Amino acid sequence: MEIGKRNIHERKSLPMARFDTGLFFHAFDIGVVCRSKPNTVRPMLEQLFDLHEKGVLRPAFPLQVHGVSDLEKILRVMQRGDNMGKIVIEMRPEDKVKAVLERKPTTSLRKDATYMVAGGLGGLGRSMAAWLVDRGARHLILLARSGPRTQEARDFVESLTLRGVQVATPPCDISDSDALRSVLDNCSSTMPPIRGAIQATGLLRDAVFERMSYETWQAAAAPKTLGSWNMHSLLPTNLDFFIGISSVAGVAGGRGQANYAAANTYIDALMKYRVDQGLHGVALDLGIFLDIGFATQNVDLWARWEAQRPLTVTEPELFPLLDCCCSESIPTQVVFGINSFVQDPSIRHQFFRKAMLRTLALEDEKESDNSRGLGKQLAQDVDLGSVFAQAITLDDAANAVNEALLRKLSTMLALPREQLDPDTPLHTYGVDSLVAVELRNWFAKEVHAELAIFDILGGATTRTASTLAAVKSRLKKGSWEETKT
Ligand SMILES: NC(=O)c1ccc[n+]([C@@H]2O[C@H](COP(=O)([O-])OP(=O)(O)OC[C@H]3O[C@@H](n4cnc5c(N)ncnc54)[C@H](OP(=O)(O)O)[C@@H]3O)[C@@H](O)[C@H]2O)c1
Repeated sequence: MEIGKRNIHERKSLPMARFDTGLFFHAFDIGVVCRSKPNTVRPMLEQLFDLHEKGVLRPAFPLQVHGVSDLEKILRVMQRGDNMGKIVIEMRPEDKVKAVLERKPTTSLRKDATYMVAGGLGGLGRSMAAWLVDRGARHLILLARSGPRTQEARDFVESLTLRGVQVATPPCDISDSDALRSVLDNCSSTMPPIRGAIQATGLLRDAVFERMSYETWQAAAAPKTLGSWNMHSLLPTNLDFFIGISSVAGVAGGRGQANYAAANTYIDALMKYRVDQGLHGVALDLGIFLDIGFATQNVDLWARWEAQRPLTVTEPELFPLLDCCCSESIPTQVVFGINSFVQDPSIRHQFFRKAMLRTLALEDEKESDNSRGLGKQLAQDVDLGSVFAQAITLDDAANAVNEALLRKLSTMLALPREQLDPDTPLHTYGVDSLVAVELRNWFAKEVHAELAIFDILGGATTRTASTLAAVKSRLKKGSWEETKT
């Protein structure tokens, strides 16, 4: 009977040999039972409470009670695995806990102005409309071709209205200039002047370019090309901001997305044009969102994009970007999401074959030329993926891992890098099982190698652990060349 979760969550496998004697393996999760069989669980719980009240069941012994300020210490004790009974953490008023300070937003919007979000009833659009309201906006125009047709959109509008926001949602296809002009005219009689706009319309109509019909091209392109131009032409010239939501598909390309990619580059160019005219304009070329927008409406798309996880952006990352977009000194085109994308070796290869993106790869290579040896390259925060791709011998790769590990340890243990010797056993630096778990996770994430805790604690040095990690690493696709002596 397995009541732990860890091996299950880590998708561990079970040797099958013992099962030929008719053994059963059963995983039990009280949470699952509570949800699936509430009528069975309820009387059981009542019985338990009853036994507890009668004093038949007593708290686990020994019971240690600590304040939340001792949390780190307690976790270290638990990590050693030699504690008995139960440990309870209490939230006491006098406890001190580390907290992330809530920063004051840098953007403050006018209450006597209207802000428009084209595509404002879609996934990203709703999120950005809520951001506008959080920053002080009280009058919004949210446009979609068919108005608030989904329940989500209607609920959203209602939630804003309850917050005292005037929200107009007239159906409007922004690629139709007459329709947009008429909406703007109508709104101007009941709402304050528009002082900011976000263009967040978008449609995906993916197809292989050779088989892409003109209609398919136009469906994806029109909202971003004609629609953006119409917004630019018809909105007032004194806008405090005009943000064009674009996509990394424009700069990096996307399979079957020639129409969508081209449409996004139009937004990039239009924002540059606006700035050249002395107007505000920023194109935000965003990576993939898995938590909001397109992907949440389409399971296949979600699965396809999930595979490109290194390219993803999350909703909370969007808001500081929007704050930056409203500041004076922002460039006209901001690409967000492609950096981490570049670090994945397999995707690096897929993308940097393209002439257009080759310069980015060349920048990396220049950096590595400037540094002497792969270890030094790491000192400049170069990812291990590219180090492995360039390393010829196992020793080269292991040295690079060793240098990265020493730097990681120096940060974790707050010791200068120079004081760490690669041939001194790790435990002499105070690397306990808690630190070892963190290092094991680091090896898995950065070196793509699964190490056991024993490989890190059992007398290992940074050098031996790094060599083992380099041997096990999945970053290396082929075999290593022999080291020349
Ligand atoms: N989701 C992502 O991962 C991602 C990543 C990078 C960039 N982006 C960009 O972010 C924007 C929003 O994407 P999303 O994921 O939020 O998509 P979404 O949920 O499908 O929202 C798009 C909205 O645009 C509206 N729209 C489409 N064509 C229109 C038109 N001609 N006139 C007026 N409204 C129109 C749609 O409503 P109707 O269908 O009712 O018109 C919908 O409300 C797009 O520009 C997209 O390129 C998204």
